Amino acid sequence: MSELKQQIELAVQAIRKETDFAPRIGIILGTGLGGVAREIQAEKTIEYARIPGFPRPTMEDHAGILHFGRLEGQPIVAMQGRFHLYEGYTPAQITFPVRVLKALGIDTLVVSNAAGGINRKFQAGDLMILDDHINFMGVNPLVGPNDDTLGPRFPDMSEPYDKKLVALGMDIALAQGFRCHRGTYIAVTGPCLETAAEYRMFGVMQADAVGMSTVPEVIVAKHAGLRVFGVSVITDMCIPETLKPADINEIIAIANEAEPRLTQLILRLISKM
Ligand code: HPA
Repeated sequence: MSELKQQIELAVQAIRKETDFAPRIGIILGTGLGGVAREIQAEKTIEYARIPGFPRPTMEDHAGILHFGRLEGQPIVAMQGRFHLYEGYTPAQITFPVRVLKALGIDTLVVSNAAGGINRKFQAGDLMILDDHINFMGVNPLVGPNDDTLGPRFPDMSEPYDKKLVALGMDIALAQGFRCHRGTYIAVTGPCLETAAEYRMFGVMQADAVGMSTVPEVIVAKHAGLRVFGVSVITDMCIPETLKPADINEIIAIANEAEPRLTQLILRLISKM
């Protein structure tokens, strides 16, 4: 058995000592987007610190709790607290929880994040449903020996985000009257924000939004055969000609303001899964 598989089994054993709850959908809650966590009818919560192999979050607003329970009647497991490359974790550490959720039985992964708007039609506060991505992090979580029992050596990436879920998400957002787009997310490591020249380049690359997360988890989810839905909250616009110093408090304020819309979108989507 591969070392990775042994680590997954240890984590699953630790979780199974505390709950036999069988989730179908995994959710990774990003920055300032804890609204969904409050809607969960919890059966069990487990701190990451109690799960072998789970890294501990370094940022205060990332709580580090696994919630098992129901959302809209569906059995889910939600990660409150996620890991980023800029914190110093390896790609393997960042994506380990996705492996564990898969081993617990999920077939679908829902991820959210905060992102900067590259597409000039966007406004701060808009939602963007991911329909593709560009891995611009310079690393890939699948580099290294492949365990064929976890997924193929050369996983397909022709449809990282499930087309039916993208369409369903767009229908829901439209019916709710939310400003929502579909587009390409480009992932960078951070932690610095980008220069005007970098934002201009992302525009040339036809990226619609830029952020510091999500892509490693999605790559591992696809490797594991999961169906994926991803959504960004556009927290700031990245227009090269008028770039001002980034205000992290403003970014958090916009993420919080958009939280009820994101929560509605995710709840309604999950009710239809
Ligand atoms: N760049 C990278 N990540 C981000 C940004 C950005 O401009 N805004 C929110 N997350």
